[in-house]
Amino acid sequence: MLALAGKTYFNYGGQGPLPEPSLAAITASWRTIQELGPFTSDVWPYIERTTATLRQHLAHWFGVGAHRVAFTENVTSGCVLPLWGLPWRSGDELLLSDCEHPGVVAACRELARREGLTMAVLPVQDLRGATAATDAAVLERLEQALTPRTRLLVLSHLLWNTGQVMPIAATAERLRQHGNKPWLLVDGAQSLGSLPLGETGAANAAATADIYACTGHKWCCGPEGLGAVALSERLLSESQPTLIGWRSLSHEGSASSGFHADARRFEVATSCIPLMAGLTQSLLLLEAEGRAGERLAGIQASSRLLWEGLQAIPGLATLLEVPPPAGLVSFTAEGSPEALVQALGQRGIWLRTLDDPHCLRACTHITTSEAEIDQLLEALTDLR
Ligand SMILES: Cc1ncc(COP(=O)(O)O)c(C=O)c1O
Repeated sequence: MLALAGKTYFNYGGQGPLPEPSLAAITASWRTIQELGPFTSDVWPYIERTTATLRQHLAHWFGVGAHRVAFTENVTSGCVLPLWGLPWRSGDELLLSDCEHPGVVAACRELARREGLTMAVLPVQDLRGATAATDAAVLERLEQALTPRTRLLVLSHLLWNTGQVMPIAATAERLRQHGNKPWLLVDGAQSLGSLPLGETGAANAAATADIYACTGHKWCCGPEGLGAVALSERLLSESQPTLIGWRSLSHEGSASSGFHADARRFEVATSCIPLMAGLTQSLLLLEAEGRAGERLAGIQASSRLLWEGLQAIPGLATLLEVPPPAGLVSFTAEGSPEALVQALGQRGIWLRTLDDPHCLRACTHITTSEAEIDQLLEALTDLR
Protein backbone atom coordinates (compact mmCIF):
# COMPACT_ATOMS: atom_id res chain seq x y z
CA MET A 1 0.00 0.00 0.00
CA LEU A 2 1.53 3.28 -1.09
CA ALA A 3 -0.11 5.07 1.81
CA LEU A 4 1.69 2.86 4.32
CA ALA A 5 5.11 3.02 2.72
CA GLY A 6 7.66 5.17 4.53
CA LYS A 7 5.30 6.19 7.30
CA THR A 8 3.64 4.85 10.41
CA TYR A 9 -0.07 5.24 9.91
CA PHE A 10 -2.76 5.31 12.60
CA ASN A 11 -5.51 7.31 10.86
CA TYR A 12 -7.65 4.43 9.57
CA GLY A 13 -10.74 5.99 11.17
CA GLY A 14 -10.15 9.10 9.03
CA GLN A 15 -9.24 7.31 5.82
CA GLY A 16 -7.93 3.84 5.12
CA PRO A 17 -5.01 3.26 2.74
CA LEU A 18 -5.96 2.10 -0.76
CA PRO A 19 -4.24 -1.22 -1.64
CA GLU A 20 -2.31 -1.28 -4.93
CA PRO A 21 -4.65 -3.92 -6.46
CA SER A 22 -7.62 -1.62 -5.74
CA LEU A 23 -5.83 1.30 -7.35
CA ALA A 24 -5.11 -0.98 -10.32
CA ALA A 25 -8.77 -2.08 -10.46
CA ILE A 26 -9.87 1.57 -10.60
CA THR A 27 -7.46 2.37 -13.42
CA ALA A 28 -8.43 -0.81 -15.30
CA SER A 29 -12.10 0.04 -14.96
CA TRP A 30 -11.50 3.53 -16.31
CA ARG A 31 -9.66 2.00 -19.27
CA THR A 32 -12.45 -0.50 -19.89
CA ILE A 33 -15.01 2.31 -20.01
CA GLN A 34 -12.90 4.22 -22.52
CA GLU A 35 -12.22 1.11 -24.61
CA LEU A 36 -15.88 0.09 -24.74
CA GLY A 37 -16.76 3.73 -25.37
CA PRO A 38 -18.35 5.92 -22.69
CA PHE A 39 -22.03 6.41 -23.39
CA THR A 40 -22.30 3.59 -25.92
CA SER A 41 -24.61 0.62 -25.76
CA ASP A 42 -21.47 -1.50 -25.39
CA VAL A 43 -20.62 0.04 -22.03
CA TRP A 44 -24.02 -0.25 -20.27
CA PRO A 45 -23.79 -4.00 -19.52
CA TYR A 46 -20.34 -3.41 -17.98
CA ILE A 47 -21.67 -0.57 -15.81
CA GLU A 48 -24.71 -2.58 -14.81
CA ARG A 49 -22.55 -5.59 -13.92
CA THR A 50 -20.04 -3.54 -11.89
CA THR A 51 -22.82 -1.77 -9.97
CA ALA A 52 -24.88 -4.91 -9.32
CA THR A 53 -21.82 -6.89 -8.21
CA LEU A 54 -20.84 -4.34 -5.59
CA ARG A 55 -24.42 -3.82 -4.40
CA GLN A 56 -24.74 -7.57 -3.88
CA HIS A 57 -21.35 -7.72 -2.19
CA LEU A 58 -22.16 -4.90 0.24
CA ALA A 59 -25.61 -6.38 0.91
CA HIS A 60 -23.83 -9.55 1.97
CA TRP A 61 -21.54 -7.57 4.30
CA PHE A 62 -24.53 -5.70 5.71
CA GLY A 63 -26.53 -8.93 6.00
CA VAL A 64 -29.56 -7.46 4.19
CA GLY A 65 -31.18 -7.94 0.76
CA ALA A 66 -29.59 -6.02 -2.11
CA HIS A 67 -32.85 -4.08 -2.60
CA ARG A 68 -32.14 -2.40 0.76
CA VAL A 69 -28.74 -0.99 -0.29
CA ALA A 70 -28.28 2.43 -1.93
CA PHE A 71 -24.95 3.83 -3.09
CA THR A 72 -23.95 7.20 -1.71
CA GLU A 73 -20.92 9.44 -1.92
CA ASN A 74 -19.95 9.19 1.75
CA VAL A 75 -21.30 8.45 5.23
CA THR A 76 -22.95 11.81 5.70
CA SER A 77 -25.07 11.69 2.54
CA GLY A 78 -26.11 8.16 3.52
CA CYS A 79 -27.36 9.54 6.84
CA VAL A 80 -28.90 12.74 5.56
CA LEU A 81 -30.64 11.87 2.26
CA PRO A 82 -33.02 9.26 3.74
CA LEU A 83 -33.41 11.33 6.94
CA TRP A 84 -34.96 14.22 5.03
CA GLY A 85 -37.36 11.85 3.26
CA LEU A 86 -39.07 10.63 6.42
CA PRO A 87 -42.67 11.71 7.15
CA TRP A 88 -42.07 14.35 9.84
CA ARG A 89 -44.83 15.98 11.89
CA SER A 90 -44.38 19.25 13.70
CA GLY A 91 -43.51 18.59 17.36
CA ASP A 92 -41.66 15.32 16.67
CA GLU A 93 -38.54 14.96 18.80
CA LEU A 94 -35.09 14.01 17.48
CA LEU A 95 -32.91 12.26 20.06
CA LEU A 96 -29.18 12.36 19.24
CA SER A 97 -26.33 10.83 21.18
CA ASP A 98 -23.65 13.25 22.36
CA CYS A 99 -21.08 11.43 20.21
CA GLU A 100 -22.48 12.11 16.74
CA HIS A 101 -20.44 13.64 13.94
CA PRO A 102 -20.84 17.43 13.46
CA GLY A 103 -22.21 17.12 9.92
CA VAL A 104 -25.02 14.80 10.98
CA VAL A 105 -25.84 16.93 14.01
CA ALA A 106 -25.97 20.06 11.84
CA ALA A 107 -28.30 18.33 9.35
CA CYS A 108 -30.63 17.32 12.19
CA ARG A 109 -30.60 20.85 13.58
CA GLU A 110 -31.60 22.30 10.20
CA LEU A 111 -34.26 19.62 9.71
CA ALA A 112 -35.67 20.50 13.14
CA ARG A 113 -35.70 24.20 12.28
CA ARG A 114 -37.52 23.70 8.99
CA GLU A 115 -40.03 21.09 10.18
CA GLY A 116 -40.74 22.47 13.67
CA LEU A 117 -39.12 19.52 15.47
CA THR A 118 -37.44 19.50 18.87
CA MET A 119 -34.05 18.02 19.76
CA ALA A 120 -32.81 16.11 22.80
CA VAL A 121 -29.53 14.47 23.79
CA LEU A 122 -28.73 10.90 24.79
CA PRO A 123 -25.48 11.03 26.81
CA VAL A 124 -23.08 8.17 25.99
CA GLN A 125 -19.70 9.90 25.84
CA ASP A 126 -18.89 9.14 29.48
CA LEU A 127 -19.45 5.38 29.05
CA ARG A 128 -15.88 4.12 29.08
CA GLY A 129 -16.10 0.71 30.75
CA ALA A 130 -16.74 -2.92 29.81
CA THR A 131 -19.25 -3.80 27.09
CA ALA A 132 -21.91 -5.37 29.32
CA ALA A 133 -22.01 -2.36 31.68
CA THR A 134 -22.00 0.06 28.73
CA ASP A 135 -24.84 -1.76 26.98
CA ALA A 136 -26.92 -1.73 30.15
CA ALA A 137 -26.24 1.97 30.74
CA VAL A 138 -27.17 2.91 27.15
CA LEU A 139 -30.51 1.11 27.43
CA GLU A 140 -31.20 2.59 30.86
CA ARG A 141 -30.44 6.12 29.64
CA LEU A 142 -32.50 5.55 26.52
CA GLU A 143 -35.41 4.64 28.78
CA GLN A 144 -35.00 7.94 30.61
CA ALA A 145 -34.60 9.97 27.40
CA LEU A 146 -37.54 8.57 25.44
CA THR A 147 -40.70 10.66 25.48
CA PRO A 148 -44.04 10.04 23.76
CA ARG A 149 -42.87 12.46 21.02
CA THR A 150 -39.51 10.80 20.29
CA ARG A 151 -39.54 10.09 16.55
CA LEU A 152 -35.86 9.49 15.74
CA LEU A 153 -32.76 8.25 17.51
CA VAL A 154 -29.34 8.96 16.02
CA LEU A 155 -26.66 6.68 17.47
CA SER A 156 -23.33 5.66 15.94
CA HIS A 157 -22.45 1.98 16.03
CA LEU A 158 -18.82 2.55 16.97
CA LEU A 159 -18.31 5.96 18.58
CA TRP A 160 -15.73 7.87 16.59
CA ASN A 161 -14.41 9.74 19.62
CA THR A 162 -14.29 7.30 22.55
CA GLY A 163 -14.07 4.11 20.45
CA GLN A 164 -16.91 2.52 22.43
CA VAL A 165 -19.37 0.17 20.70
CA MET A 166 -23.11 0.75 21.06
CA PRO A 167 -25.79 -1.97 21.48
CA ILE A 168 -27.64 -1.19 18.25
CA ALA A 169 -29.79 -4.33 17.92
CA ALA A 170 -31.06 -4.06 21.54
CA THR A 171 -31.72 -0.34 21.01
CA ALA A 172 -33.69 -1.10 17.85
CA GLU A 173 -35.73 -3.66 19.75
CA ARG A 174 -36.56 -1.10 22.45
CA LEU A 175 -37.60 1.48 19.84
CA ARG A 176 -39.91 -1.06 18.19
CA GLN A 177 -41.84 -1.30 21.49
CA HIS A 178 -42.30 2.49 21.67
CA GLY A 179 -45.77 3.77 20.75
CA ASN A 180 -44.44 6.50 18.44
CA LYS A 181 -42.28 3.98 16.51
CA PRO A 182 -39.11 6.14 16.43
CA TRP A 183 -36.79 5.72 13.46
CA LEU A 184 -33.24 4.54 14.16
CA LEU A 185 -30.43 6.22 12.24
CA VAL A 186 -27.06 4.57 12.77
CA ASP A 187 -23.85 6.23 11.65
CA GLY A 188 -21.68 3.29 10.63
CA ALA A 189 -18.65 5.34 9.58
CA GLN A 190 -16.32 3.43 11.91
CA SER A 191 -17.98 0.03 11.73
CA LEU A 192 -18.17 -1.23 8.13
CA GLY A 193 -14.88 -3.07 7.64
CA SER A 194 -14.09 -3.21 11.34
CA LEU A 195 -17.10 -4.76 13.11
CA PRO A 196 -18.85 -7.91 11.84
CA LEU A 197 -22.38 -7.15 10.64
CA GLY A 198 -23.86 -9.82 8.37
CA GLU A 199 -22.34 -12.67 10.41
CA THR A 200 -23.97 -11.60 13.66
CA GLY A 201 -27.49 -12.98 13.06
CA ALA A 202 -30.21 -11.42 15.21
CA ALA A 203 -27.66 -8.96 16.67
CA ASN A 204 -26.94 -7.49 13.22
CA ALA A 205 -26.95 -3.72 13.66
CA ALA A 206 -27.19 -3.00 9.92
CA ALA A 207 -30.29 -5.14 9.51
CA THR A 208 -32.10 -3.71 12.54
CA ALA A 209 -31.51 0.01 11.91
CA ASP A 210 -33.75 2.04 9.59
CA ILE A 211 -30.76 3.91 8.18
CA TYR A 212 -27.31 2.33 8.49
CA ALA A 213 -24.89 4.63 6.67
CA CYS A 214 -21.31 3.73 5.80
CA THR A 215 -18.40 4.57 3.58
CA GLY A 216 -15.87 2.55 1.64
CA HIS A 217 -12.95 4.84 2.35
CA LYS A 218 -12.25 4.15 6.02
CA TRP A 219 -12.05 0.60 7.43
CA CYS A 220 -12.86 -1.04 4.06
CA CYS A 221 -9.73 0.57 2.54
CA GLY A 222 -11.64 1.57 -0.58
CA PRO A 223 -11.39 4.83 -2.54
CA GLU A 224 -12.85 8.07 -1.20
CA GLY A 225 -16.09 9.21 -2.84
CA LEU A 226 -18.13 6.02 -2.52
CA GLY A 227 -20.32 4.93 0.37
CA ALA A 228 -23.45 2.88 0.88
CA VAL A 229 -26.49 2.90 3.14
CA ALA A 230 -28.69 0.00 4.23
CA LEU A 231 -32.34 0.99 4.65
CA SER A 232 -35.16 -0.82 6.43
CA GLU A 233 -38.25 -2.15 4.63
CA ARG A 234 -40.35 0.25 6.74
CA LEU A 235 -38.29 3.22 5.63
CA LEU A 236 -38.54 2.15 1.99
CA SER A 237 -42.30 2.00 2.19
CA GLU A 238 -42.86 5.20 4.21
CA SER A 239 -40.17 7.63 2.99
CA GLN A 240 -39.92 9.86 -0.05
CA PRO A 241 -36.77 10.41 -2.11
CA THR A 242 -35.08 13.73 -1.41
CA LEU A 243 -32.28 14.69 -3.79
CA ILE A 244 -34.04 13.41 -6.91
CA GLY A 245 -32.40 12.50 -10.20
CA TRP A 246 -32.73 10.04 -13.06
CA ARG A 247 -31.29 7.18 -11.03
CA SER A 248 -34.12 7.58 -8.48
CA LEU A 249 -36.64 6.72 -11.21
CA SER A 250 -37.82 3.18 -11.98
CA HIS A 251 -37.70 4.10 -15.71
CA GLU A 252 -34.73 6.39 -15.81
CA GLY A 253 -35.56 7.84 -19.23
CA SER A 254 -39.01 9.09 -18.24
CA ALA A 255 -39.67 11.98 -15.87
CA SER A 256 -43.23 10.73 -15.39
CA SER A 257 -42.02 7.37 -14.13
CA GLY A 258 -42.42 6.52 -10.45
CA PHE A 259 -39.47 6.23 -8.09
CA HIS A 260 -37.69 2.96 -7.49
CA ALA A 261 -39.52 1.02 -4.78
CA ASP A 262 -36.14 -0.15 -3.47
CA ALA A 263 -33.21 1.76 -1.98
CA ARG A 264 -32.19 3.12 -5.39
CA ARG A 265 -34.84 5.85 -4.85
CA PHE A 266 -32.08 7.60 -2.86
CA GLU A 267 -29.51 7.45 -5.64
CA VAL A 268 -29.27 10.52 -7.82
CA ALA A 269 -27.42 10.60 -11.15
CA THR A 270 -24.07 9.95 -12.84
CA SER A 271 -21.41 8.67 -10.48
CA CYS A 272 -17.93 7.23 -10.76
CA ILE A 273 -18.11 3.55 -11.74
CA PRO A 274 -14.33 2.89 -11.45
CA LEU A 275 -14.60 3.60 -7.71
CA MET A 276 -16.97 0.64 -7.50
CA ALA A 277 -14.39 -1.63 -9.09
CA GLY A 278 -11.85 -0.33 -6.54
CA LEU A 279 -14.09 -0.92 -3.52
CA THR A 280 -15.02 -4.40 -4.76
CA GLN A 281 -11.31 -5.23 -4.93
CA SER A 282 -10.70 -3.88 -1.41
CA LEU A 283 -13.57 -5.98 -0.01
CA LEU A 284 -12.11 -9.08 -1.68
CA LEU A 285 -8.69 -8.35 -0.20
CA LEU A 286 -10.17 -7.99 3.28
CA GLU A 287 -12.11 -11.25 2.87
CA ALA A 288 -8.87 -12.98 1.92
CA GLU A 289 -7.55 -12.04 5.38
CA GLY A 290 -10.35 -13.92 7.19
CA ARG A 291 -13.99 -13.61 8.18
CA ALA A 292 -15.14 -10.32 9.71
CA GLY A 293 -15.01 -11.77 13.24
CA GLU A 294 -11.48 -13.00 12.70
CA ARG A 295 -10.39 -9.66 11.30
CA LEU A 296 -11.91 -7.89 14.29
CA ALA A 297 -9.92 -10.19 16.60
CA GLY A 298 -6.77 -9.05 14.80
CA ILE A 299 -7.77 -5.39 15.12
CA GLN A 300 -8.52 -5.89 18.83
CA ALA A 301 -5.17 -7.60 19.43
CA SER A 302 -3.29 -4.55 18.18
CA SER A 303 -5.57 -1.94 19.74
CA ARG A 304 -5.17 -3.78 23.07
CA LEU A 305 -1.40 -3.72 22.72
CA LEU A 306 -1.48 0.01 22.09
CA TRP A 307 -4.01 0.62 24.87
CA GLU A 308 -1.83 -1.31 27.35
CA GLY A 309 1.32 0.50 26.24
CA LEU A 310 -0.37 3.88 26.70
CA GLN A 311 -1.27 3.00 30.32
CA ALA A 312 2.42 2.76 31.10
CA ILE A 313 3.36 6.24 29.85
CA PRO A 314 3.16 8.98 32.49
CA GLY A 315 1.07 11.99 31.47
CA LEU A 316 -1.13 9.98 29.07
CA ALA A 317 -4.55 8.50 29.86
CA THR A 318 -6.70 6.32 27.63
CA LEU A 319 -10.35 7.35 27.33
CA LEU A 320 -11.53 3.76 27.64
CA GLU A 321 -11.02 2.00 30.97
CA VAL A 322 -10.90 -1.38 29.24
CA PRO A 323 -9.16 -2.62 26.09
CA PRO A 324 -11.00 -1.16 23.05
CA PRO A 325 -13.80 -3.22 21.48
CA ALA A 326 -12.41 -2.35 18.01
CA GLY A 327 -9.58 -0.31 16.53
CA LEU A 328 -10.09 3.22 17.89
CA VAL A 329 -7.72 4.14 20.72
CA SER A 330 -8.29 7.63 22.09
CA PHE A 331 -6.20 9.16 24.84
CA THR A 332 -5.53 12.45 26.52
CA ALA A 333 -2.10 13.96 27.02
CA GLU A 334 -0.87 16.63 29.38
CA GLY A 335 -0.17 19.74 27.31
CA SER A 336 -1.38 20.37 23.79
CA PRO A 337 -2.65 17.34 21.80
CA GLU A 338 -2.18 19.37 18.59
CA ALA A 339 1.50 19.98 19.35
CA LEU A 340 2.00 16.30 20.13
CA VAL A 341 0.31 15.21 16.87
CA GLN A 342 2.48 17.65 14.96
CA ALA A 343 5.65 16.40 16.63
CA LEU A 344 4.69 12.80 15.85
CA GLY A 345 3.99 13.78 12.24
CA GLN A 346 7.51 15.16 11.98
CA ARG A 347 8.68 11.63 12.84
CA GLY A 348 6.42 10.14 10.15
CA ILE A 349 3.87 8.86 12.69
CA TRP A 350 0.32 9.86 11.82
CA LEU A 351 -2.56 10.21 14.22
CA ARG A 352 -5.11 12.95 14.83
CA THR A 353 -6.68 15.11 17.49
CA LEU A 354 -10.38 15.25 18.34
CA ASP A 355 -12.22 18.26 19.73
CA ASP A 356 -14.87 16.64 21.91
CA PRO A 357 -13.48 15.27 24.09
CA HIS A 358 -10.22 17.05 23.39
CA CYS A 359 -7.77 14.20 22.89
CA LEU A 360 -5.64 12.23 20.43
CA ARG A 361 -6.86 9.22 18.48
CA ALA A 362 -4.75 6.42 17.04
CA CYS A 363 -6.43 3.61 15.09
CA THR A 364 -5.14 0.11 14.50
CA HIS A 365 -6.27 -2.06 11.57
CA ILE A 366 -5.28 -5.56 10.46
CA THR A 367 -2.35 -3.97 8.66
CA THR A 368 -0.93 -2.51 11.90
CA SER A 369 2.24 -4.25 13.07
CA GLU A 370 3.62 -4.64 16.57
CA ALA A 371 6.71 -2.74 15.43
CA GLU A 372 4.53 0.25 14.47
CA ILE A 373 2.85 0.23 17.88
CA ASP A 374 6.25 0.07 19.58
CA GLN A 375 7.43 2.95 17.44
CA LEU A 376 4.45 5.08 18.46
CA LEU A 377 4.84 4.20 22.14
CA GLU A 378 8.55 4.98 22.07
CA ALA A 379 7.93 8.31 20.36
CA LEU A 380 5.24 9.23 22.88
CA THR A 381 7.56 8.30 25.75
CA ASP A 382 10.29 10.36 24.21
CA LEU A 383 8.09 13.40 23.57
CA ARG A 384 6.54 13.46 27.06
C1 LIG B 1 -18.75 8.94 12.90
C2 LIG B 1 -18.50 9.67 11.62
N1 LIG B 1 -19.53 10.13 10.89
C3 LIG B 1 -19.36 10.78 9.75
C4 LIG B 1 -18.11 11.04 9.26
C5 LIG B 1 -17.97 11.79 7.97
O1 LIG B 1 -17.67 10.88 6.96
P1 LIG B 1 -17.93 11.23 5.43
O2 LIG B 1 -16.99 12.30 5.05
O3 LIG B 1 -17.69 9.92 4.70
O4 LIG B 1 -19.35 11.66 5.31
C6 LIG B 1 -16.99 10.58 9.95
C7 LIG B 1 -15.63 10.84 9.44
O5 LIG B 1 -14.66 10.77 10.12
C8 LIG B 1 -17.18 9.88 11.17
O6 LIG B 1 -16.16 9.42 11.88
